Amino acid sequence: MSRLASVRRTLLCLTAAAVVSAPLLAARQSTTLKDIVPKGWLIGVAINQNQSDGRDTQAVDVITRQFNSISPENLLKFQSVHPQADRYTFDAQDRYVAFGRDRGMAVIGHNLVWHSQTPAWVWAGADGGLADRATMLARLHDHITTVVGRYKGRLRGFDVVNEALNEDGTLRDSPWHKGIGDDYIAKAFEFAHEADPGLELYYNDYNLATQPAKRAGAVRIIKDLQRRGIRIDAVGEQGHWRMDTPTPQQIDQAITELRATGVKVMITELDVNLLPSGPPPARGQAPSAADNPYANGIPDDMQQALARRYADIFRVFLKHRDDITRITFWGLSDADSWLNRGRMNFPLLWDRQRQPKPAFDAVVKVLTEK
Ligand code: XIL
Repeated sequence: MSRLASVRRTLLCLTAAAVVSAPLLAARQSTTLKDIVPKGWLIGVAINQNQSDGRDTQAVDVITRQFNSISPENLLKFQSVHPQADRYTFDAQDRYVAFGRDRGMAVIGHNLVWHSQTPAWVWAGADGGLADRATMLARLHDHITTVVGRYKGRLRGFDVVNEALNEDGTLRDSPWHKGIGDDYIAKAFEFAHEADPGLELYYNDYNLATQPAKRAGAVRIIKDLQRRGIRIDAVGEQGHWRMDTPTPQQIDQAITELRATGVKVMITELDVNLLPSGPPPARGQAPSAADNPYANGIPDDMQQALARRYADIFRVFLKHRDDITRITFWGLSDADSWLNRGRMNFPLLWDRQRQPKPAFDAVVKVLTEK
């Protein structure tokens, strides 16, 4: 940081300290989201291994005070928990589950079936091509039975299938789909239910608010499961959103339409991306200034705009308080967010120092005015 920038920053901090009165500051520290969300909502956060292992004590402290649910950012994905056909790794995963159980939190599983973060052996046939249906179904069954069975009775729910849809609402032609066929989704839900009949089962995807055709695809998946008599409890809209999209009206309509299927709605991976979209810089290359416009922080007007955006979003959630069962942020602080990827992003409610941002205050305000 240049000397001038550092002087400016000090001055800014001093001004901020002067305008936030001592009682207000104390209130900010003691307000906890889990105490002010509507009854019946879970308020969650995705945690990483530094957090579930307890190494990141500052984050653990905030997570423990603020949230009543956790999701595993990566630990329960196929490649983490089942890297080889005959090898499961459960050490860190067991600690993740214990982290939440010890704190009386609703512990979520994410996820059982996805085209991403899944090792290639899962889909490979003996001849080097794709495995046949029977082989792939056997692998799917083994994986789901083992992972869900291990935590039977200890998880609230699991994202059984993640991101099965194309933007036009057709089924993504993932290796799971290619190898098994359309009913791979029904099979996955069936196997999960068999392994833990008490577990809530979710379908999870993104862009369900912005893309009506994709949302219609999600509705078809839900109805197909219902028609087959297979358990599904909720649909998750991931909620990887931006400042201008989706609009509050689009979020409102999406919740209404998804809820009309009869299942509950969850926002499972909420964050608000402030960076310009577009292809990421090539591996090993520094991003250009245009791609990384807030390398030295965001200006105050943007901080306030983000706070207003979060307030608008939460107002829609509150309107649907009886339709929604959980809101989960995808990461605790800006330092933890997957959206940085070599740039500086500011998508969450806590800053890099793990201090609550104006967006946190805005969410608290909306939730307490309800
Ligand atoms: C992301 C994690 O946050 C990253 O750490 C990882 O490198 C890639 O996956 N949709 C999902 C999540 O369902 O599992 C993804 O999580 C973000 C998009």
